[in-house]
Amino acid sequence: KQSVKDIDVKGKRVFCRVDFNVPMKDGQVTDETRIRAALPTIQHLSEQGAKVILASHLGRPKGQVVEEMRLTPVAKRLSELLGKEVKKTDEAYGDAVKAEIGTMNDGDVLLLENVRFYPGEEKNDAELAKSFAELADVYVNDAFGAAHRAHASTEGIAQHLPAVSGLLMEKELDVLGKALSNPERPFTAIIGGAKVKDKIGVIENLLDKVDNLIIGGGLAYTFVKAQGHEIGKSLLEADKMDLANSYIAKAKEKGVKFYMPVDVVVADDFSEEANTKVVPIEEIPSDWEALDIGPKTRGIYEDVIKNSKLVIWNGPMGVFELDTFSKGTKAIAQALADATDTYSVIGGGDSAAAVEKFNLADKMSHISTGGGASLEFMEGKALPGVVALNDK
Ligand code: 3PG
Repeated sequence: KQSVKDIDVKGKRVFCRVDFNVPMKDGQVTDETRIRAALPTIQHLSEQGAKVILASHLGRPKGQVVEEMRLTPVAKRLSELLGKEVKKTDEAYGDAVKAEIGTMNDGDVLLLENVRFYPGEEKNDAELAKSFAELADVYVNDAFGAAHRAHASTEGIAQHLPAVSGLLMEKELDVLGKALSNPERPFTAIIGGAKVKDKIGVIENLLDKVDNLIIGGGLAYTFVKAQGHEIGKSLLEADKMDLANSYIAKAKEKGVKFYMPVDVVVADDFSEEANTKVVPIEEIPSDWEALDIGPKTRGIYEDVIKNSKLVIWNGPMGVFELDTFSKGTKAIAQALADATDTYSVIGGGDSAAAVEKFNLADKMSHISTGGGASLEFMEGKALPGVVALNDK
């Protein structure tokens, strides 16, 4: 795909879609990772003399104006991070916005209002896409986190303007793309999280590529049960047991080493104060619930990580939000941090939140800014926001 580095933007109005869908509390941005991740593109455009018109969604306002979902606090934080005034409009298109853009000097940065305040955004409405396009001469998509959405500001607009990728978009596609198409080996995928259902696509796609597949988190217990062990009150998707067995069989067929927990931390309640104990996987008591992998499993998983050249991690090993059940997830994060010879790719969402929580973010090779987007990419799906960009 063409990149923002391939084109001349001097004096041009650039509509730059970013993913500023950041967590907020009481009108303050509480995690600015995604804002920081977009800075290289914004700085590049500004330094090259473009009029930088930024657009993003925030939350899911469902086509209506929701006061708490205005991008005003984001503009303020961005302004501080850039060390430069960032004006913000109360709309995302229309005459008032055009007038504001008319006052911009080369290098100026403007942030439009939340594009999801308009019902046409998520419907990928052609009129709305045109209205966005009318604001600019060039379209840059740097919103990797929203690239799996075919919306007016991610896909539709690209039909009307020269459309190129931003630097963050480029980096994400480069790292994830190389990992899947030309991985260094041994290549290990660690798949966790609550549900098998959410990880079917990614497990199926990665089984064709990896040397080791490690599973953990709530989804592991459907595999454990499918292999004939009792799992007490642990999470179970009964309708996915056959599928789970078929993955284990496919792994064997392909020579992929398949790792499941051999011991677990069980609790008599889903809470920090619960009674807990470590048991072998064959001995989960009937009215207890497994909420984390156990110490033996941690050791095995740590060794696999240490001996891998590339690891992709998507999904926690346990209920890491509660300290009592965070050891498994922390062990994975720590092992990745310690394995300096291992290239570590963290899928966005919960795994990214986990490495943040354990203060290990700066030790990872790449943390994706996309949750759903990185998952769909790892499933081998084409991302509409990327497909819409001009080819080189
Ligand atoms: C995300 O946070 O994963 C992206 O910003 C996409 O948000 P969405 O799931 O509301 O489309």
